[in-house]
Amino acid sequence: MTKRVAILISGGGSNMVALAQSMREDHPAKPVLVLSNNPNAGGLSKARALHIPTMAIDHKPYGQDRAGFEDALQQVLETAQPDIICLAGFMRILTPDFMVKWEGRILNIHPSLLPKYKGLHTHARALEAGDAEHGCTVHEVTAALDDGPILGQAHMPVLADDTPDTLATRLLPLEHALYPAVLRRFAAGDRTPVTLQG
Ligand code: GRF
Repeated sequence: MTKRVAILISGGGSNMVALAQSMREDHPAKPVLVLSNNPNAGGLSKARALHIPTMAIDHKPYGQDRAGFEDALQQVLETAQPDIICLAGFMRILTPDFMVKWEGRILNIHPSLLPKYKGLHTHARALEAGDAEHGCTVHEVTAALDDGPILGQAHMPVLADDTPDTLATRLLPLEHALYPAVLRRFAAGDRTPVTLQG
């Protein structure tokens, strides 16, 4: 049975596009919804161009009421009935109450080689640490931030003249290769980690 995938975005949605395009033929999953907390997210128009249903729930009117925002997310998700949720450049922290409803069925891509550099500014932190390599991780999402079981990593060398921006730019294509590879396996019930070398 083809797994139904909802993809949550906040911005340009390049990872969402990579995931959606990877599911076009002969795949155990299909995209059923692209959902953003940002009504102006560029990824929403990209999803519409890919004929994927979209929805935006602006988090700003909810202020500090995270539960209220997540209730609105949950209502939309219960309508879309996804088997899998992919967070792809989704920049809102989700509460344990939300997680518990989806644990085991929700993935995220994080731009570092976890467990290194959970949270933000990962490229700058890798440079400050003088790391010889950097990369990205796809992991299952749990209540602890950027901490769930790792399902895949892509590695790349850090170059002498790298800046946070050049790292981010060189990493993005690896993200676009890693996330679809992990989703294909995960949707087929295979949690064998994917390792890519850039
Ligand atoms: C990417 O660097 C990703 O690692 C992070 O958000 C950034 C933008 O992703 N989670 P996208 O282009 O919106 O998919």
